[in-house]
Amino acid sequence: MKKISLTGIKPTGELHIGNYFGAIKPALELAREYDARYFIADYHALNTIKDPRELSANIRAVAAGWLAAGLNPEEVIFYRQSSIPETFELTTMLMAFTAKGLMNRAHAYKAAVAENTEKKDDPDAGINMGLFTYPVLMAADIILFDSDVVPVGKDQVQHVEMAQDIAQAVNFNYKKEVLRVPEASVRENAAVVPGLDGRKMSKSYGNTIPIFAPEKELRKLIMRIVTNSQGIEEPKDPESSQIYLLYKLFAGPEEQAALAARYRAGGMGWGEAKEELFRVINRELTPLRERFNALMDDPPGLDAVLARGAERARPIAARTVARFRAAAGIDK
Ligand code: ADP
Ligand code: TRP
Repeated sequence: MKKISLTGIKPTGELHIGNYFGAIKPALELAREYDARYFIADYHALNTIKDPRELSANIRAVAAGWLAAGLNPEEVIFYRQSSIPETFELTTMLMAFTAKGLMNRAHAYKAAVAENTEKKDDPDAGINMGLFTYPVLMAADIILFDSDVVPVGKDQVQHVEMAQDIAQAVNFNYKKEVLRVPEASVRENAAVVPGLDGRKMSKSYGNTIPIFAPEKELRKLIMRIVTNSQGIEEPKDPESSQIYLLYKLFAGPEEQAALAARYRAGGMGWGEAKEELFRVINRELTPLRERFNALMDDPPGLDAVLARGAERARPIAARTVARFRAAAGIDK
């Protein structure tokens, strides 16, 4: 039997090239050798997005984004998390095997508490139970489909490890493999794609390059990349420049070597390096942008693809829940 690859993306904003290299591209490559199940984590997004129009627009845009990036819905089971009610049944069952202390250690929750403490606010101010129990819902997403590997960026590895812990706690209790124990798969060269300001590219930092930005906006964003004050003539170190780090993601080996040599030789200013970066990014993203726009112009078509995915996903999900219920003594 083929192994199973699964991943999800929260529809919390425009997809950016960190998502593309950290999650979407590796996931699509894995889909060639694994049975793939990829989804839109819309209930995870509900923790932060309370405006209905914004959430529903984001869901469509993430769906169109996956398809524009090359997801073939005949090959990959592609669905919305919210279309699979078994996810929530499994979440409840997993809660019974999840130590509260494990949730206290989750990075996202700890960061929110630390921020409140710094502001001398109540430690739990603005933190909803959805954020606190986020890793359990994510464990359910993963475990429900008997996932072997979960392609994610580095920031999500802790969550996958928590899914491992929770599945193992269940298996240990029933002394058999009721649930499959997943593993994270992290692409080392794209583990952390840098943003315009040099920090990790993230919607939360407002430093992203959206994958489907119109050409003009793309150029503007690239021109905004923060650089140091080295003058044109000075030799520059490619590896410590985020322009070059981004370039490596889009350029072939010869192009990379050529730009690195120009950095080291001196005589090239940051503006010129940015133009070269724009050229390679635009080259790769133009066909994706065109497909994305066409898909966004056909909402019923998108909805039909997702509905078909949900139809294929639900029987698999139902089998996992039935297996767990039988093991737990909750028959039927
Ligand atoms: P954001 O940080 O912008 O909110 P998400 O948390 O929604 O992004 O991430 C969706 C997926 O994209 C996850 O698998 C995550 O690890 C990956 N990802 C996000 N940003 C980056 C980045 N800068 N580099 C590599 N992978 C990333
Ligand atoms: N938590 C992931 C993120 O923020 C999204 C996600 C939800 C996910 N469920 C998942 C990723 C299951 C992989 C597997 O990016």
